[in-house]
Amino acid sequence: MALNTLNPTETVAWKKLQAHYQDMQNASMPEMFQTDTSRIDKFNIKWNDFLIDYSKNIINPETMSLLLDLANEMGLKAAIAEYFDGGIINQTENRAVLHTALRAKESSVVNVNGQNVIPEVYEVKNNIRKFTEEITSGKRTGFTGKYFTDIVNIGIGGSDLGPAMAVEALQYYKNHLNVHFVSNVDGDHVNEIIKKINPETTLFVVVSKTFTTQETLTNSETIKEWFLKSATQEDVAKHFVAVSTNIQKVTEFGINPENVFPMWDWVGGRFSLWSAVGLTISLAVGFDNFEELLEGASEMDTHFKTADFDKNMPVVLALLSIWYNNFFGAESEALIPYTQYLQKLAPYLQQGIMESNGKSVGRDGKIVNYQTGTIIWGEPGTNSQHAFFQLIHQGTKLIPSDFIGYIKPLHGNLDHHNKLMSNFFAQTEALLHGKTKDQVQSEFDKQGLDAEKAKFLLPFKVFNGNKPTNTILIDKLSAKSLGSLIALYEHKIFVQGIIWNIFSYDQWGVELGKQLANTILEEINTKKVDNHDCSTEFLLNYFLKNN
Ligand code: F6P
Repeated sequence: MALNTLNPTETVAWKKLQAHYQDMQNASMPEMFQTDTSRIDKFNIKWNDFLIDYSKNIINPETMSLLLDLANEMGLKAAIAEYFDGGIINQTENRAVLHTALRAKESSVVNVNGQNVIPEVYEVKNNIRKFTEEITSGKRTGFTGKYFTDIVNIGIGGSDLGPAMAVEALQYYKNHLNVHFVSNVDGDHVNEIIKKINPETTLFVVVSKTFTTQETLTNSETIKEWFLKSATQEDVAKHFVAVSTNIQKVTEFGINPENVFPMWDWVGGRFSLWSAVGLTISLAVGFDNFEELLEGASEMDTHFKTADFDKNMPVVLALLSIWYNNFFGAESEALIPYTQYLQKLAPYLQQGIMESNGKSVGRDGKIVNYQTGTIIWGEPGTNSQHAFFQLIHQGTKLIPSDFIGYIKPLHGNLDHHNKLMSNFFAQTEALLHGKTKDQVQSEFDKQGLDAEKAKFLLPFKVFNGNKPTNTILIDKLSAKSLGSLIALYEHKIFVQGIIWNIFSYDQWGVELGKQLANTILEEINTKKVDNHDCSTEFLLNYFLKNN
């Protein structure tokens, strides 16, 4: 069944939200906290070892009730069933969207075109387990019989960002293998990696769903050429494996079909780390941790499918984001993990969120008359506090922010962790309350600042506060909790796509640039520039003259 199509702005709930926004746009969160000291009880969700406090938002019970009405009016319940049951919800590519099947229980049945895909999923998982054990135990060796010491993941977009983020995030659980990622077609990237590795002891994992991606193929060719300076063509089979849906192209590249881990067209690139695309994750942290990652996601899937919407983490986060995006006119959202391990979470979710919901045509084929995908950005705290927090606190833009923190540190250094977490709590408190004129003045009085100076300085030292934040507090960063966290954001993306009436699982917008780059490459190679606007032509000629 196809997804329904309905312009959200035509729903009763949307119209009521517009009217409600008029009452709420100047609402003061500090006042709401003052008048309702049990506000936290209304606006928090506990699930497994996750706690989400969303009380520091410009909302009241009516806001949430109207947002939940919007979800219901947009048919979210039925859409969730379609999503998990393998409905063709990626209609423009005529595909199901089933990354959730990759972490489903072995006993589940998920049909695609009348066939249960779970047995295939488990067959590939078993191959990942076997391969991981053979590499990490030293059973499989390189062409000179030496153990593998390094893994190079060659891929881009969804074939790079997920594994790179997860390997970084789970560094604490890592084994002896050194893991590298090559993605950019910039030759300097691949050459810097080559500098660090030894052909005898390095395994290359070429990841490309389509196996047609220019960056990945170019980097793989360069690496193969470099490898063949020390080894023979036959040795390629020992050192190169691939993850792809395109077995023919992989074979043409020279990789033995036995060394190919398949994936399926019903797994989108940006949601693929749960498939064999996660092979590098399994190699880096061991298969048991990889399975834990899947288990965490699977548990979040169950929560998303079964929890009432008002206690459903992905639904509530998605609705709050819509509240700011579509009613307050907020354009971006910040994601601030208070752990250095999650430094790649924002770039990873940039693809997930912006490639999915950066759409302007509704499911009815008409240009939308409302805002869709938010801009997502962020960096770990406390570093980000010393970089861009000034703008969040005192700038002119409204930037709803998610703060992600952990109760327990991994290395057990409580002095550091308590300092880190005191900043975590202080920031959301500061963003909520700000600092009033009276507070600033009383500080000046205590310092004995002279009246003239105080008068001048006062407006610069006032913080308006009233800046919305969600606090996501998790027990500990483990493979399992990471899986749940990623799945939380995956489902948030889904909910928003449903409510915005867009197709979240295609990415036609990235194609045009790729096509034009091919034409331009031909012109650069032949040094014949033709048929461009005067700016592009001028730039190309300037480049050719000077390179
Ligand atoms: O940038 C577009 C895109 O198609 C992404 O969606 C995808 O993750 C990436 O390119 C890589 O594609 P592939 O895995 O086919 O090489």
